[in-house]
Amino acid sequence: MILGIETSCDETAAALVTQDGQILANVVASQADLHAKYGGVVPEVASRRHLELVTPVIREALDEAGATLDDVGSVAVTTGPGLIGALLVGLSAAKALAWARRLPLVPVDHLHGHVASLFLEPASLEPPFTCLLASGGHTLLLDVRDRGWESVRVLGTTLDDAAGEAFDKGARLLGLSYPGGAALDALAREGDPDAYAFPVARVPGLDFSFSGLKTALLYAVRGLPPDELERRRADLAASYQRAIVRALVGRVEAAGGERVAVVGGVAANSELRASLPDATAAPLALCTDNAAMIASAARYSERLDSPDFLALDAYASAA
Ligand code: KG4
Ligand code: ZN
Repeated sequence: MILGIETSCDETAAALVTQDGQILANVVASQADLHAKYGGVVPEVASRRHLELVTPVIREALDEAGATLDDVGSVAVTTGPGLIGALLVGLSAAKALAWARRLPLVPVDHLHGHVASLFLEPASLEPPFTCLLASGGHTLLLDVRDRGWESVRVLGTTLDDAAGEAFDKGARLLGLSYPGGAALDALAREGDPDAYAFPVARVPGLDFSFSGLKTALLYAVRGLPPDELERRRADLAASYQRAIVRALVGRVEAAGGERVAVVGGVAANSELRASLPDATAAPLALCTDNAAMIASAARYSERLDSPDFLALDAYASAA
């Protein structure tokens, strides 16, 4: 079995996955509460928390799978993109384990991991397909020809904010705590999506832009007296969410792929899922960051033998 480790942002995660894609354990320790009071992830705080959590989380995953390190055949770890100090905690843990047990180590790109959340049982999806990857850090439209990361081509990306970032910033303006995507999704259900006409950015090609939308919400919020704002919060949330979903769905349709999949934290959004009824959305538990998707991606990636992997480094942004 493959031990996956993921520490690229504010989730400390470990998972055990078999070579044929069965999840034996998938443990995620979220640090969201720790960062909420700052309104976003504080990198140094995240690194320190990863350091405290990484060993207990790996232990818990082994316990959950009823396994020991003797059962582990390789170690997969996210090497980027993400917060560099956070990534280094997972990478160091993975190197130490693989070195001590003389196991191969598989470096995995976080974005490949999100795509590989679709290759896990019992709902494994066979490429080719067009994939919308929408998370807190990225918004990408991908042409997925095969399961390896080298077979994935970028069709479009965001020119400014990521879709999840737009959700989080909008949520903050509406007084919801970080990371507000899921809370905004819930609030939107009580509101009228046609109450406000928020703009969908016109960007050439298959790229995205969300910064204008966030500014439009800011002005709408500023323009309302406090009691009125309180009454219109759900309408604002619903209209704002509608604009983000429209932008995402519009690009997916423009890409014109025969089969479509949606992954990443924003793929958990109820309106997005409902707006793409023919698309395959990643299972809810695998949308937000987790290590099962990292172990999954490792099945289609190159392994490095001990001690070659000791020279591996993490990278902060997409290459
Ligand atoms: O994939 P992910 O866990 O982390 C990154 O790789 O960035 O995505 C986290 C993002 C956050 O911005 C969060 O607000 C958003 O996914 N998110 C949602 C929902 N659940 C999580 N956004 C909209 N609706 C949701 N239900
Ligand atoms: Zn992610």
